[in-house]
Amino acid sequence: MEYKELIKEALKYRENAYVPYSDFKVGAAVLMDDGKIYGGCNVENASYGATNCAERTAIFRAVAEGNKNLKAIAIVGDMATHTSPCGICRQVISEFANRDTDIILIKNENDYKVKKLEDILPGAFTKEDLAK
Ligand code: THU
Repeated sequence: MEYKELIKEALKYRENAYVPYSDFKVGAAVLMDDGKIYGGCNVENASYGATNCAERTAIFRAVAEGNKNLKAIAIVGDMATHTSPCGICRQVISEFANRDTDIILIKNENDYKVKKLEDILPGAFTKEDLAK
């Protein structure tokens, strides 16, 4: 699968990152099962714990628009490494992903790795665990 457009969108949203504390910009873009794309960036706060990561910003934007099925998510951080989603974001990705969802860790437009949820969050706690 070609993810050029999704990667471009993650890079574009990275520019909007609000990072006065870490100076670490992150961009993300999600591709939903209906073909729609939503971008996001990290939004920091003087109360550091109130910071929202780029992945969650993008996912929450999609869900708020009524879009819940994640086909792919692309993430770009400092562009020196293939930035990997944090633990909280892995958990949020798991809520809306399925076993086939592609998780794209971008270094730059031409260098990215594609992972699956099972690679990055094996044994995830999911809604099935809540079934009585
Ligand atoms: N960050 C993300 O946006 N996504 C991640 O998965 C890792 C961390 C942000 C949070 C904070 O604004 C900055 O990167 C440094 O941790």
